[in-house]
Amino acid sequence: MSAAQPRLAHPGFGLGLRTQHYPDFLDAPQRVDWLEILSDNYLVLGGKPLVMLDRIRADYPVAMHGVALSIGSADGPDAAYLESLVALARRVEPLWISDHLCWTGVHGRVLHDLYPLPYTEAALNVVARNVQKVQDVLQRPLVLENVSSYVSFRASEMTEWDFIREVCRRTGCRLLLDVNNIHVSSVNHGFDARAFLRGIPADRVQQIHLAGHADHGDHIIDTHDHPVADAVWALYVEALSLVGPVATMIERDDRIPPLHELVDELDHARSIAEQVFAHEVLEPAGSLA
Ligand SMILES: [Fe+2]
Repeated sequence: MSAAQPRLAHPGFGLGLRTQHYPDFLDAPQRVDWLEILSDNYLVLGGKPLVMLDRIRADYPVAMHGVALSIGSADGPDAAYLESLVALARRVEPLWISDHLCWTGVHGRVLHDLYPLPYTEAALNVVARNVQKVQDVLQRPLVLENVSSYVSFRASEMTEWDFIREVCRRTGCRLLLDVNNIHVSSVNHGFDARAFLRGIPADRVQQIHLAGHADHGDHIIDTHDHPVADAVWALYVEALSLVGPVATMIERDDRIPPLHELVDELDHARSIAEQVFAHEVLEPAGSLA
């Protein structure tokens, strides 16, 4: 499977499902259109997480988001991990399945972090081969997220956005555009975040992530423990203007507040999108066609 398929319908504005908020979603309807689950937390045969997920899934569409595919690994995707994703997908019938454009381990050892790739032809060949394998097993386009990073490789031969564009062209995969990650990396590496946005194929963006970070002045750490920063909201406006109406979701992974605070923050994303699209009908600005 490598031919590009059109972007799926826009399901609205979502949040990452966190265990602290299970009771909120079970007790009353929430102003949340869909939920993103961390797939790796549900790759089990039974138990409370799956029971909670089944109950919440009855009321909310769910997207599956993973952290351990290691799509940039020369070892290739782990067959057992892929099969467990297939089993979970059979259970939750997700909107889509995403992971990160990175590597997370080597020689079977999982390093539990999202490491950036060298942006080289050799890495492109590895990623394209792996994406095609994954898509063949999942029988759907994979959605890949740009990661935040703190180091880069001297060996890189192209920009991150050129690399992403080529991965999309070769595999037909879609993009999870993390606007916060673009901002974080643009500060850490000194590139133009708007050049990144203009460089990726807008018609492949299936979803946007928004999140908070820790700003240390000359560098930013992608902590997901703060509300979305003003600079990221500003970049979100630009992203929407280029990409068009697209599913948007807020991630919070630490110092998790009461659900109503995240729902209020999500309302801010809704109002920004309403303002951006109030007076114009937009088509994605850039495509691979
Ligand atoms: Fe993200």
